[in-house]
Amino acid sequence: MVWWFSTPRVVFGEDALSEIELLEGKKAFIVTDKVINQLGLAEKVCRILTDNLWSAAIWDGTTPDPKVSTVKEAATAMRHFGADTIIAVGGGSVIDTAKAAWTLYENPSIDLPALSPFDKIGLRQKAKLICIPTTAGTGSEATKAIVIREDETGRKFATSNDELFPDIAILDPEFVVGLPKDLTAYTGLDALTHAVEGYVSVWKNDFSDGCSLNAVKMVFEWLPKSVADLSNLEYREKMQIAACLAGMSFANSQVALAHSLGHSMGSVLRTQHGLSVGMVLPYTIEYNARESKEVAMLYSDLASIVGVKGAAGTKKAMNFALAIRDLMEEVGAPRSLKEAKVKRSDFKQGLDQLVEFAMMDSSITMNPRNIDSEGIRRMYEYIYSGDIIDF
Ligand SMILES: NC(=O)c1ccc[n+]([C@@H]2O[C@H](COP(=O)([O-])OP(=O)(O)OC[C@H]3O[C@@H](n4cnc5c(N)ncnc54)[C@H](O)[C@@H]3O)[C@@H](O)[C@H]2O)c1
Ligand SMILES: [Fe+2]
Repeated sequence: MVWWFSTPRVVFGEDALSEIELLEGKKAFIVTDKVINQLGLAEKVCRILTDNLWSAAIWDGTTPDPKVSTVKEAATAMRHFGADTIIAVGGGSVIDTAKAAWTLYENPSIDLPALSPFDKIGLRQKAKLICIPTTAGTGSEATKAIVIREDETGRKFATSNDELFPDIAILDPEFVVGLPKDLTAYTGLDALTHAVEGYVSVWKNDFSDGCSLNAVKMVFEWLPKSVADLSNLEYREKMQIAACLAGMSFANSQVALAHSLGHSMGSVLRTQHGLSVGMVLPYTIEYNARESKEVAMLYSDLASIVGVKGAAGTKKAMNFALAIRDLMEEVGAPRSLKEAKVKRSDFKQGLDQLVEFAMMDSSITMNPRNIDSEGIRRMYEYIYSGDIIDF
């Protein structure tokens, strides 16, 4: 069977931003959000471009977990400006808005919720996409995925297409150094979830494994340090690399059950993406490892890398889930919905919708163990209370 492994060109390290001076083009459309714009990060990129005689525009209309309507607004602005280069400066929400708007800019006939990996979009007739992440988490700068919300239902849906790999990812630690403590922790847990799920998904392969193994090791080493010393550029750089590696892994394998459960939590309870998927990750490991020795062995590989002792097998996999719970405590992330202070009444009220959206999420099909809607409902009950999965 033929397989592929794709990544953008990645520029990393202090002063990686100088790559902007080497770009070829005339008209750059910078996609960002209001917070990042106010921090001056988009302006920093804009200034380099205008100093090099480009014309450049900043569009800061992105909102967290972007909706289709927001993407359409960005695409309209892109069309009016007539960009030959699109530059995303922001977290996953900004990068996904840029990817999705770029799709509509180049091919207005695309219906985003119906976009499939098999569609021919026809990107790069008009513009290239450059991504400068300001969070160290989603890895979207290295993936072919987009995650958008439907306006009508608020449901987050993920889709991917090979054409959507950005052309260049620029990892400059100066762009993540202002990220507050809670978001540093949550987005770092998103990276960990990508790395772990990329390693056990049914589409895993030897290339994605290489990325996952290093990313898991790096997150355990550098995330607590980043959270403890937010202004340290070395720690930030290491987490940027870990997040990008984790993105490369899952872009070429897939994410799984933690993302189905987490996307649904983001849709229904509006919990931050990294917090959602990071919180549910240990429960999914416990669920997956209980059934299959083979899957438990995979988690055992990851456990060994982060220093969990003992013979490979189910117990070691369960201890890996515990190690993740400990890591979450260390970085100040809630390990259950109860700890996250979600009211029991809100949880109960949203439970049917949580189950329905999780079952509709495409990542569920990549999980190494099957699950039905009753199983999902049960998992959410455990995720609420914080109990270890025993089924
Ligand atoms: N396409 C993919 O491959 C992929 C992968 C994982 C997640 N996602 C999606 O990405 C989105 C989440 O992205 P995210 O976790 O990066 O968060 P985000 O982009 O939603 O940003 C969260 C908040 O942090 C702020 N922020 C970002 N960078 C900052 C900085 N340097 N300093 C201060 N504040 C900053 C933003 O303004 C925003 O208010 C979700 O919609 C998720 O589903 C996409
Ligand atoms: Fe994610």
